[in-house]
Amino acid sequence: MRKLAINGGEPVRAPRNPWPTWPVCTERAVELVTEVVRSGVWSYDGPKEWEFARQFADFSGLRYALTVANGTVAIQLALEALGIGAYDEVIVPGLTWQATAAACLEVNAVPVLVDIDPETYCLDVAAAEAAITSRTRAIIVVHLYGAMADMDAVIRLARSNNLSLIEDCAHQHGSQWRGQGVGGLGDVGAFSLQQSKVLTSGEGGINTTNDWDLFQKLYSLRNCGRPFQDGAPTLQSGNYRATEMQAALLLAQMEQMADWVAVREQNARRVDACLESIMGLRPMLRHEGVTRQSYYCYSFRYDEALWGGVPVAKFREAFAAETGLAVGSTYEPLNNCSLYKPHTKPRYRISEAHWAAIDPGGYRLPAAAHAYAKEGVVIWQPFLLAGQKDIDDIVNALQKISQNRDELPSA
Ligand SMILES: Cc1ncc(COP(=O)(O)O)c(C=O)c1O
Repeated sequence: MRKLAINGGEPVRAPRNPWPTWPVCTERAVELVTEVVRSGVWSYDGPKEWEFARQFADFSGLRYALTVANGTVAIQLALEALGIGAYDEVIVPGLTWQATAAACLEVNAVPVLVDIDPETYCLDVAAAEAAITSRTRAIIVVHLYGAMADMDAVIRLARSNNLSLIEDCAHQHGSQWRGQGVGGLGDVGAFSLQQSKVLTSGEGGINTTNDWDLFQKLYSLRNCGRPFQDGAPTLQSGNYRATEMQAALLLAQMEQMADWVAVREQNARRVDACLESIMGLRPMLRHEGVTRQSYYCYSFRYDEALWGGVPVAKFREAFAAETGLAVGSTYEPLNNCSLYKPHTKPRYRISEAHWAAIDPGGYRLPAAAHAYAKEGVVIWQPFLLAGQKDIDDIVNALQKISQNRDELPSA
């Protein structure tokens, strides 16, 4: 009799045993949103927006935070605050959500795609260095899923080449490198607050910085160019503000944020330890500089050759069948991504040279392609808030699949 659930065997986890859901609805959130509704202050720099900004900055060990419309806008405003515009080149990792590169297009800059480090799925620092030209103005590092690039090397590279450093922190509210919160390791941080993220107001974003001048620029850019302080010069910009209702939802979550980050990290490390013991599975590398790791997703690496040619898709299916989790692959690499199509937007044709430069098709991203097609296993974060027994189910499922790997068909 075959044992794996994918082959009709009994699953490790009973199908009716649900995983934690997300977002979490608390009475505190209802109370704070109700307060806002009754207050008549629904937007425009309300007290809860400033209170949230202060709390988030404190939580991350940063000087300044500002709520904005969403995470994509947060990257765009970071670029604009740093003075990056037409024809400037911005180095972007080739494996990320399309918004990282799309935000560069919005300011008429050229996203230069570079490959990833297979150990972390984050920016490959050597590849970034090789991509620097006289037009390069900035690097965007993405703290992807639940791993970080070698941030010492990234910071060194940016500084030694006089480049601005933007952190795309959409996935990692609360991560720390050598005790410093992400969003403060470079010049400007950009966070997403979209519904699936570890801190969420449905939609929304945050910009962070430790620099007073950049903070004032970011404030103006999000608010139609109005100055932060009376009498200061105005800027050209639009409305990228968030609302007071969003701030109320966020404030309610801030009360649990540190605990949630800690529980996810503790559970992820248990799964890491299990993966270490199974041939052909590997956790992502945790650099010694990581002092707190936040997880938007839990990702790990599968080695098809060590599984006798069983395709990663079959492994993912088997894992999903045992646990009831949705188990997916990584993002599509940006040189061949169904949602990254710069040439479908005529307004990006500011010159023929620029139009050619923003074509993603010419980049070679072998490590990203391998992660996507052959290796990456990615699970969205809510399961990491589950209890010890639930995490045992994950560990038992991985061990069971490994012990019965001969039941899985090779390609
Ligand atoms: C890595 C990354 N960057 C940027 C964004 C953009 O954030 P938003 O959806 O809030 O615009 C996302 C959102 O999914 C993301 O995953």
